Amino acid sequence: MGLGEPLRTRGGEWLRPAEASQAAALYEAVDASRDVLAPWLPWCTARYTPASAEDFLSELTLEHRTLIFPSQDAKAVLGAVSLMPVDRYDGVWKLGYWVRADVQRSGVARRAAATLCQAAFASGTVQRVSILVAVENTPSRRVAEALGAEMEGVLKSRLLLPSGRHDAAIYGLVPEALAEDLRP
Ligand SMILES: CC(C)(COP(=O)(O)OP(=O)(O)OC[C@H]1O[C@@H](n2cnc3c(N)ncnc32)[C@H](O)[C@@H]1OP(=O)(O)O)[C@@H](O)C(=O)NCCC(=O)NCCS
Repeated sequence: MGLGEPLRTRGGEWLRPAEASQAAALYEAVDASRDVLAPWLPWCTARYTPASAEDFLSELTLEHRTLIFPSQDAKAVLGAVSLMPVDRYDGVWKLGYWVRADVQRSGVARRAAATLCQAAFASGTVQRVSILVAVENTPSRRVAEALGAEMEGVLKSRLLLPSGRHDAAIYGLVPEALAEDLRP
């Protein structure tokens, strides 16, 4: 299984490449999670509508965008994990993730992120993954640390969130550090 194909996590969830047909399920997951996503994800505003989900899924992009599902054929979306190119010459990509409110704290984010990162490293195009997290975002920092990423510093006033500007912890993940116990 490689990047661009469905990927199974160690916990049995599936990552499927984001596509237009998933718009209603994506909207449902975001709508059910607004309160917990909005403080950290600038796109999750009161103006996020079913059309926003459709627009997102129909955008042409270089990102590896995947949605997380509880099983291979399930329709309901558990969350999303994506890799965005930062510097393609050097093979540096940025990881992003969110998980719907009612399934948080059961390891979904770390398993999904580890699965995508492993496929990305195996593809040969990604040599280093960066994770940028507001210093106050403890759940996201715990995910980064569980993946095996190393905190490399704090960038002052790096992120603009609904509550204002925040310092961000920058984490780096290299292939050999990816947590063995999360690999699919
Ligand atoms: C960050 C997020 C994706 C984590 O998803 P998840 O599936 O719950 O993650 P996991 O279960 O793999 O791990 C969550 C970790 O956060 C910890 N955690 C969760 N809520 C917490 C809280 N309120 N205070 C402290 N720790 C908390 C859990 O204990 C766990 O860490 P541990 O295993 O060391 O105990 C989810 O919280 C989310 O969607 N947040 C909003 C969007 C977001 O912040 N995205 C990342 C932007 S950088």
